[in-house]
Amino acid sequence: MTGSDSIDIPFTVPCVHRLRFTSDVLGKDHGTLAELLEPSGEQPARVQVWIDEQVAAAQPDLQQRLRRFLKSRPGRFTMPGNIQLVPGGEAIKNDIHVLERMLKCMHAAELDRRSYVLVVGGGAVLDAVGFAAAIAHRGIRLIRLPTTTLAQADSGVGVKNSVNLFQKKNWVGTFAVPWAVVNDAALLSTLPDRDFVCGFSEAVKVSLLKHPAAFEQVCAAADRIRQRDWAAAAPVIRQSAQLHLDHITQGGDPFESLEARPLDFGHWSAHKLEVLTDYRLRHGEAVGIGVAIDTVYSSLKHGLPVADADRALDCLIRLGLPLNDEALADPQPLFDGLEEFRQHLGGRLTVTMLQAVGRKIDVHDIDRGAMRESIEAVRQFGQSAATGRRELPLPPVRN
Ligand SMILES: NC(=O)c1ccc[n+]([C@@H]2O[C@H](COP(=O)([O-])OP(=O)(O)OC[C@H]3O[C@@H](n4cnc5c(N)ncnc54)[C@H](O)[C@@H]3O)[C@@H](O)[C@H]2O)c1
Ligand SMILES: [Zn+2]
Repeated sequence: MTGSDSIDIPFTVPCVHRLRFTSDVLGKDHGTLAELLEPSGEQPARVQVWIDEQVAAAQPDLQQRLRRFLKSRPGRFTMPGNIQLVPGGEAIKNDIHVLERMLKCMHAAELDRRSYVLVVGGGAVLDAVGFAAAIAHRGIRLIRLPTTTLAQADSGVGVKNSVNLFQKKNWVGTFAVPWAVVNDAALLSTLPDRDFVCGFSEAVKVSLLKHPAAFEQVCAAADRIRQRDWAAAAPVIRQSAQLHLDHITQGGDPFESLEARPLDFGHWSAHKLEVLTDYRLRHGEAVGIGVAIDTVYSSLKHGLPVADADRALDCLIRLGLPLNDEALADPQPLFDGLEEFRQHLGGRLTVTMLQAVGRKIDVHDIDRGAMRESIEAVRQFGQSAATGRRELPLPPVRN
């Protein structure tokens, strides 16, 4: 026999993404969480709890309430060992050694593939604990209880996890569908104001990309969201979570194998800004700036009406997000973010821009001159907003 032989069989894997919305998941809504914990045959479900240290400090009764809940139905679920506390914020993602500690704890508790890792925290803790859970036994069931607006509106409902390595954001991680996500309003109550507004930059991002009516909604609610008016904030978080989830489950590329990564609109510069500022800027703040930059660029180069770019920047400012950061003074180091973005995806550079609100375009070249002008326009907009003027000093449109 000569020649080669090959078998290529496409296949799909059925997955369910379970997202729940509650107002007090460890109080009156505890049944929602209980229902998600399926016993393992005759055995009760084993649930290991991980909490963001800062959330545990801000909510002193949280550990007690979780313990009480997990001991309330011994035939259905049990909690092996103690509750585990981990550093909150980017610190947990920047120290690779924490990963080994987490894996040791999962091993010591004899978790198996039918056990649950229940993680309560901000997006950084969800990412890091989720990564450990995804690689232990090639995947332990993960239930996320996001405690920030950003994690409830975006990262917590996603199918990714990671930690940072080699001074690069999210360099090591996996795609893994969580068992369930519970977006609980009460868990957000202790979030500092600065972090509360952060999540809404991702809501602006996804609405600009996909849904003009959702963009109107967040613009209309911006001032009240800044005042932490829950009646204004809750529908925007819900809409953003839904749009992210729709993209993941119906967009045809949940594990981002294709060239474009539209949900990363504004993120090539945002990720670089986080690193350049040594994480002084929060992810949500960096995303606000990144979305503003690519929105202005879209207006300069791809036909997005200037009035829409202006509304987007005005909305970000009214939400209370900073647009004028000192890291924008010299755009040159930011441009390295473009190459890092390309390198991460492989192949040619593909960046998502806007032709209109709700209409995206994938571009493969960036006009550095126009991008420089966009960065400067965002910086000036942020500066003028501080004086109450809020005008977009857009240079003339280029082709
Ligand atoms: N996996 C994904 O798809 C994805 C998507 C977007 C962002 N992310 C990642 O998410 C991270 C950012 O997450 P984040 O914006 O949620 O911030 P965060 O996790 O960094 O939390 C911000 C700070 O608030 C504290 N905190 C969290 N909840 C609190 C509460 N309820 N009360 C008091 N303090 C609280 C945290 O301890 C931390 O110090 C970044 O690492 C980013 O890369 C991941
Ligand atoms: Zn993001």
